[in-house]
Amino acid sequence: MSEKQPLQLQKPKWIYFGGRVRLSEEAVFHVSTEAVVRGLNVFEGLKACWQADGSFGFIAVERHWRRLRRSAKLLHIPFEMSLAEFDDALHSLVQMLYEPERDMWVRATLYVTEGHWGVDTKSDLVLTAFHWPKGLPQPMKTGISTWQRATDASLPYRIKTSTNYQVARLAKIEGRDRGYPEMVLLNQHGRVSETIGSAIAMVRDGTVYTPPAWEGAFESITIDIVEALCADMGIPFVRRPIDRTELSIADEMGIISTLNDITLVHSIDGSAFGEQPILQAIAQRYLRAITGVEPHPSVELSCRPPADRLGPPSRPAAPASPGEAPRQATAAAALAVQAEKPRVSGRVRSTLAKSGYLQGLAALLFGG
Ligand SMILES: Cc1ncc(COP(=O)(O)O)c(C=O)c1O
Repeated sequence: MSEKQPLQLQKPKWIYFGGRVRLSEEAVFHVSTEAVVRGLNVFEGLKACWQADGSFGFIAVERHWRRLRRSAKLLHIPFEMSLAEFDDALHSLVQMLYEPERDMWVRATLYVTEGHWGVDTKSDLVLTAFHWPKGLPQPMKTGISTWQRATDASLPYRIKTSTNYQVARLAKIEGRDRGYPEMVLLNQHGRVSETIGSAIAMVRDGTVYTPPAWEGAFESITIDIVEALCADMGIPFVRRPIDRTELSIADEMGIISTLNDITLVHSIDGSAFGEQPILQAIAQRYLRAITGVEPHPSVELSCRPPADRLGPPSRPAAPASPGEAPRQATAAAALAVQAEKPRVSGRVRSTLAKSGYLQGLAALLFGG
């Protein structure tokens, strides 16, 4: 168990931007881009953990890449990067930043850097990586927010875009005032959808329940993994609507996501849950799977051996210009690409990079 730290307080030295790893302060947008003016982006949050064999592994890279493509498609944002390029980019950044004692969380954000109201839209993938404690999070208390999940016809929760997190932010502020680090959002029918940034699971009479996507839940990769683990562990798992009062009287409750793993919830609006043997067993099994201690077919890992740190990028980093080939790898990245291909992502196919370029000056938004 470990104490979590606020991601947004970290200012990592390196960032992936304009097709390669650069110093963070070189990553800038023009203030008039749709990325800034409309907060237009889609993103993913990926976790990478130190593995039992000493390698460093990302969880479910292909599934995150596919979901990023789906979000981009729904918002008419071009995203041409292949899975192999995405995977290489992830590893190239963490190899510049990781530390032996901590895992990492990477925010992969596709920002709209050119275009207007959907005309001539161009995008660029930005990766920011943050240190994150190893192991499972501490149990937490939660409350039910007065804010509501948006609907598919207003702001589709299926799209992982920053604007979808404005309500989450309000709920977070509300929760902080009430002493809760995480808040449950109800849907327009008053039923449970999810928390600010995680799926919800409850246990009643030995069965794990979670709301289906159409109840306002984001399509979580981790909840799919939990479903697969439950199947192997002989634990019934059902997706169906959950009433607010049903959650309050559940035997167990957990929040589930890439970032939070399976975090046990010890109370909701002050009402305590008891022992949580089922979710605890699933959480431990999940931890063993993502760290390679006891692999599971539902947990695909893209692992690479630790790279020697070769220091700063091999040439002075400058913002990419329109004519510049966008994939100038750092020395460490180049080394890693040559060294070994991802262990489990053998289906990866490499094609030419087509990530966009960025112009102008303005401060980059970190994390969040
Ligand atoms: C709103 C929301 N719900 C659920 C999740 C969990 O999704 P995943 O398990 O794929 O991390 C996330 C995390 O991305 C999220 O932001």
